[in-house]
Amino acid sequence: MKIAIVGASGAVGQEFLRILSERDLKMDELVLFGSKRSAGTTYDFKGKKLTVKELKHGDDFKDIDIALTSAGASTSKEFADTITKYGAVMIDNSSAFRMEDDIPLVVPEVNAADAKKRPRNIIANPNCTTIQMVVALKALENLSHVKRVHISSYQSASGAGAMGMEELENQVKQYVAGEPITVEKFAYQLLFNVIPHIDVFQDNGYTKEEMKMFYETRKIMHSDVQVSATTVRVPVMRAHSESIWSKPKNR
Ligand SMILES: NC(=O)c1ccc[n+]([C@@H]2O[C@H](COP(=O)([O-])OP(=O)(O)OC[C@H]3O[C@@H](n4cnc5c(N)ncnc54)[C@H](OP(=O)(O)O)[C@@H]3O)[C@@H](O)[C@H]2O)c1
Repeated sequence: MKIAIVGASGAVGQEFLRILSERDLKMDELVLFGSKRSAGTTYDFKGKKLTVKELKHGDDFKDIDIALTSAGASTSKEFADTITKYGAVMIDNSSAFRMEDDIPLVVPEVNAADAKKRPRNIIANPNCTTIQMVVALKALENLSHVKRVHISSYQSASGAGAMGMEELENQVKQYVAGEPITVEKFAYQLLFNVIPHIDVFQDNGYTKEEMKMFYETRKIMHSDVQVSATTVRVPVMRAHSESIWSKPKNR
């Protein structure tokens, strides 16, 4: 089996590399892709050096069986045909295809069977906050239908990618050096702060991040569950936390 990682230099791509090196997955070849920026960079993988190739429209995916893509929604949309046209299954981490009817949105612990029906050879991966919530909700759903959920998230800098983590680290260094704090990636200074504002606000007053939790949860769980989310960025480098309140059908 041949596997590709698209977005290998990113926060998610680096996790793919780490997890694939830990697991004993039978693999004949691993191929790494990125933009011009990281093309030519090498990464160690199980004692070998792998060089990042530039993602281009062409035949690079001809022999690939599975492509793990995490290079942002616009890259996924632009390259989906290039990646899948010879039969590779694209497992996409971006938001590009999550809500499309002919693309399954899958969390293996919850709806693995949905992955079998993939007419466009694409399987979408949900937003990070949705993934961890639905694993817990599924256990409750098995006991009694979950009707309503209130969730508050405590999301780390890693959720904003490699640049998000770099910004928090730089803010720590700038604070210690008594320098002005640079704010680029987040809405406000993250150091010593909590920011209840992830992604853009929608007309209904929720942010896009919060509405993803509403729509994605319903699709994954095949459910009419009502989800009200408050998503908050906290000054933690990695790992999101959540506080979830749920109400079963007959309560
Ligand atoms: N971070 C998370 O916890 C998380 C969780 C779930 C889903 N996601 C999603 O996963 C995707 C990546 O997130 P991330 O956090 O890993 O971001 P990131 O750290 O900013 O990394 C972005 C990656 O995309 C690559 N890339 C960008 N434009 C490209 C292009 N035109 N062609 C090829 N590669 C390109 C970059 O390669 P270069 O370095 O070569 O530019 C880099 O490897 C996003 O869609 C994000 O929403 C992230």
